[in-house]
Amino acid sequence: MTTQTLDAIISIRNLDLHYGQFQALKSVPLDVRTRKITALIGPSGCGKSTLLRCLNRMNDLIPGCRVAGKVLFEGRDIYASGEDVCLLRKRVGMVFQRPNPFPLSIRENVVFGLRVAGVRERARLDTIVERSLTAAWLWDQLKDRLDEPALGLPLDQQQRLCVARLLAVEPEVILMDEPCSALDPIATARIEELMIELKKRYTIAIVTHNMQQAARISDFSGYMLLGEMVEFGPTAGVFTSPKDKRTQDYVSGRYG
Ligand SMILES: Nc1ncnc2c1ncn2[C@@H]1O[C@H](COP(=O)(O)OP(=O)(O)OP(=O)(O)O)[C@@H](O)[C@H]1O
Ligand SMILES: [Mg+2]
Repeated sequence: MTTQTLDAIISIRNLDLHYGQFQALKSVPLDVRTRKITALIGPSGCGKSTLLRCLNRMNDLIPGCRVAGKVLFEGRDIYASGEDVCLLRKRVGMVFQRPNPFPLSIRENVVFGLRVAGVRERARLDTIVERSLTAAWLWDQLKDRLDEPALGLPLDQQQRLCVARLLAVEPEVILMDEPCSALDPIATARIEELMIELKKRYTIAIVTHNMQQAARISDFSGYMLLGEMVEFGPTAGVFTSPKDKRTQDYVSGRYG
């Protein structure tokens, strides 16, 4: 096995990614530590979303996208031939920038993945709905409204419903690409608190434009610039005593 950090559920080494002729990631390393929050920060266009999407092969869906290097999930190369990408995306789920519930009821959103997997027993589905909504802090508000349309919910509840939909299929890692950028500060605070609660059981990797958010909630941070990982380490160190001058300029607000 290659040099894998012991407590990292995902380890990336020398990851190159091209969109056609354009190289968006340049020999990037990353360790995503188990049951911690890892934040990717950096100016627009530096490759944060691209890197996050490599963690569950979401870039496969983009025509002309080529990946070289290693992405080890629990020691297995997820880009090896024969990997089950559906299973990977169940184990490494993703929450997007804009909440994207399906135009279905609240209940049907939560059990969507289970239905696709062929689960039919009502009692089992009900248990999972309650457990997932409870974990996403929605059960008390929504338990009597499970048949209402999900799209009628306020945005922050929609975003937490998307989290509940992931939790229903029992992922190990949750990827979040700017999950609060469509939310107001109060809703953002709720999602941040939820993330801190979720990391007791799940591993989280988040992309954020908001440096205060990264500083508040993450355990590890990676600063990216022009497709490179300039600096990676414990968040406190990256923010208060960065080793690289470029990181220092960014975290002190000099640009970006
Ligand atoms: N589907 C694509 N096809 C071609 N180029 C792309 C594609 N997606 C992203 N890029 C390019 O790759 C680079 C990295 O993009 P990416 O979206 O990963 O950056 P980002 O750090 O997430 O930016 P932002 O903060 O604006 O979301 C950018 O130069 C972008 O234009
Ligand atoms: Mg992005």
